[in-house]
Amino acid sequence: MRGQPTHPPSSISAVILTRLAKQYQSNMVRSSLQLNSEWIPKVEESLAIKQLTQRSLAERLEVSRSSVSKFINCKPVALNTFIRLCQELNLDWNSASQPEREWNDQIESFKFKREDFKANPGGQIAPDEIVGREELIERLWSHLQQQSLIFSGERRIGKSSILKKMTAEAKADMLPIYRDLEGIRTPIEFVEAVWQDTETYLRDVGTARRVREYLSQLTGSYFDGYQFPEVAAEHWKILLTKTIEDLVTLQDKQIVLIWDEMPHMLGNFSDETAMEILDSLRSLRQTYPDVRMVFSGSIGLHHIIKNLQKAGYSNDPTNDMYPIEGQPLSLEEATQLTINLLQGEDIPVVDLQQTAENIALAADCIPFYIHHLINQFKAVESEIDSEVIARTVNECLRSSLNLWKMDHYRERIDNYYSEEQKPYALEILDILSINPATSFSRLWQYLKSEPETKDKEMARTVLRLLLKDYYLVQEDNLSGSMYTFRYQLVQKYWQISRGL
Ligand SMILES: Nc1ncnc2c1ncn2[C@@H]1O[C@H](COP(=O)(O)OP(=O)(O)O)[C@@H](O)[C@H]1O
Ligand SMILES: [Mg+2]
Repeated sequence: MRGQPTHPPSSISAVILTRLAKQYQSNMVRSSLQLNSEWIPKVEESLAIKQLTQRSLAERLEVSRSSVSKFINCKPVALNTFIRLCQELNLDWNSASQPEREWNDQIESFKFKREDFKANPGGQIAPDEIVGREELIERLWSHLQQQSLIFSGERRIGKSSILKKMTAEAKADMLPIYRDLEGIRTPIEFVEAVWQDTETYLRDVGTARRVREYLSQLTGSYFDGYQFPEVAAEHWKILLTKTIEDLVTLQDKQIVLIWDEMPHMLGNFSDETAMEILDSLRSLRQTYPDVRMVFSGSIGLHHIIKNLQKAGYSNDPTNDMYPIEGQPLSLEEATQLTINLLQGEDIPVVDLQQTAENIALAADCIPFYIHHLINQFKAVESEIDSEVIARTVNECLRSSLNLWKMDHYRERIDNYYSEEQKPYALEILDILSINPATSFSRLWQYLKSEPETKDKEMARTVLRLLLKDYYLVQEDNLSGSMYTFRYQLVQKYWQISRGL
């Protein structure tokens, strides 16, 4: 046995984080963390949202300015300071830190700061601050009894929060392992992440034997590190299989590998590699029917797979997985979240229930926007009435800072729609943004009068894509089938950003 367990912090997953929250040991080991340079824009954005400078941040946390400067410049800072800085900036310190060699007891002993509900748009929130979702989580678990899942849904709808709550509240016979794959650029990084996660779990029941034996063979000496050696890269498929074998054989729970931002990671790979990953994962699901996988993400997997099919692949490597779509909160849940945040932030309102409901509706019951609105209301001195709510929504949508992260609705069309499809998508969204629900025949009247949108079947294809990509919904009423924006916020954003 090794004297001191060493794990990179990047391998800590949500269950461990929850465990960490419960533990406290005074057995401190000196250590530091440094910011992953890919996170600099997020740090900057967070400073802007919170209207903090490096100096005011340092003052607020009572740390030195040089620590803050080191932090932002990706130099090592004391672990404790690193975590507090990330918390203050609403960043997930675990993902924001660079993988580091030493796992240590100080990380084990880290405690979540427990406070009242605070507005925390886009930040990491503790599982018990995640409001509602009980029914959906129940449904996810129940489907997982039978098969693996694809959990999709618009960005910021609350998918990751649902998955984290689900992980934190798993039944004793389940072993959910949550991992955010955004930022993973090569297959070996993916396999290493999966292996590190499994090692974290297997630590209590024995180490991941097969992987270590295999790596020992590759390197020619006993392998006891926690990062793959360079020679591992070309053997990623074997290592993936061995990792899963270790997981299946070294403990008796039902394994659920929850991979968030899966399409994002696949998009970082070449077509061939993406397909190999998807194929390998499917074959693992077939070989080990007890292993469940959840692929989650906001770029529809259909875009990724369609691109792969264009590149010559004919199979659909996820057709054994059950699709579930993440939705906004129910009005009741959204109102409850709003009440918690209004109270947590001490924002006085005359009729709490009614005001909260108005705010929830103005945010389309999407928790991210509710957090944002409450954050804005902190600075409002007058009564939060319907007019203030409407004005604030408008200001946020108009903000040049892309505060509400709506630009991806525009960018997705540039990135994932073909040259031929683009003019149809833009035209349809332009029309619907300034009209009530509209039938296909009426849309077609508009489209055919424009030079670039004269193919009726293409119009239908693009409409279907816009439905799949959460821009639109199709509603049947007495006058037939009508198309309209799914969210009024997106409709308003579209109008504003397109100058309509
Ligand atoms: N059920 C919830 N209760 C409270 N806040 C939530 C809830 N779901 C999401 N949030 C807030 O919205 C933000 C975005 O949610 P997230 O789960 O990251 O969305 P997604 O993964 O779909 O992009 C979170 O950082 C959190 O502040
Ligand atoms: Mg997410």
